[in-house]
Amino acid sequence: MRVPTNFWELHTSCLVADEILPFDVYIWRDGKTVLWRGKSTEVAQKDINRLAESGVESVIIGIRDKEKYLEYAEPNAQELIMNDNVPVEYKSYVVRETTNKILDKLYKEPTDINLAKRLENIVTPIVELILSSANMAPLRFLLERGDMEFAYAPHSARTCYYTIALASSFKRFSRDKLNQLAMAALLHDIGQMIVKPEIREKIGKYTEEERKEMQKHPVYSVSLINRAEIYDLDDASLIAIKSHHELGDRTGYPQNVCLFDLPIEANILAMTHTFESYTVERVHRKARKSFDVIRDMLSNPKKFPLDLVRQFVQVLSKLESY
Ligand SMILES: [Fe+2]
Ligand SMILES: [Fe+2]
Repeated sequence: MRVPTNFWELHTSCLVADEILPFDVYIWRDGKTVLWRGKSTEVAQKDINRLAESGVESVIIGIRDKEKYLEYAEPNAQELIMNDNVPVEYKSYVVRETTNKILDKLYKEPTDINLAKRLENIVTPIVELILSSANMAPLRFLLERGDMEFAYAPHSARTCYYTIALASSFKRFSRDKLNQLAMAALLHDIGQMIVKPEIREKIGKYTEEERKEMQKHPVYSVSLINRAEIYDLDDASLIAIKSHHELGDRTGYPQNVCLFDLPIEANILAMTHTFESYTVERVHRKARKSFDVIRDMLSNPKKFPLDLVRQFVQVLSKLESY
């Protein structure tokens, strides 16, 4: 169906049963919009089933109500992920946009308890979604985004998706462990918010003092998380956050420790975070091609564990071939 540009097409299964609609829902029939259920009405499962039975695969909502759709979908994200009828691109859209929205606010208010709770609630849908398909189709949709300029929210979200895709490919981590790792990835740079904006947002070259301050951000992330007492992270996740800039040859920061001596969680996060950073444009440098970043990692095995990089290549190759 060709939907008018001021409407957004939504797969029928994306409607949530027993919820009050915060927007009008239309169907597109014979080139016309027909109101199906008005705002503030409750939709029952049988109504949704009836739509599907009568061959209506998708409904439409006003394009301006897209934001309201996300608010309506967020508390039901897990249900949508588990529903086999919901197409993967819709599941990914809800997870990606919701994660981004929460992170965007959280990076401004890192100790807001409601935002921390919302972030924790979106972690299971992220993990379940990535695990739901062996061909990495959800990952491809999760990584999709319009602009490729650096911002903490999309960087953290994308680092999280890569982290879970890689970690889950080992088949040795429990769901709980994957949730922990996802949370660590989402929060790894939160300590940047403790660094003064004039340093953090500086475009020119750092002075030695400024560089030292910037390099403390992984430590700040851990102290902020511990102090806030609103995040529930295990020791390995906290180590992973603290060491996400460490390297195998001790040339990383803040502690110049050998990455290889740290838990696998730390090695995974350090690698996926670096990969994400290099493949996105920043003010001081252009985005590099995934292939080139991986080639450098493979040819410099002193920085990141080779077996981990090779495993990541397997994950990425599924992504490319999809
Ligand atoms: Fe960082
Ligand atoms: Fe980072």
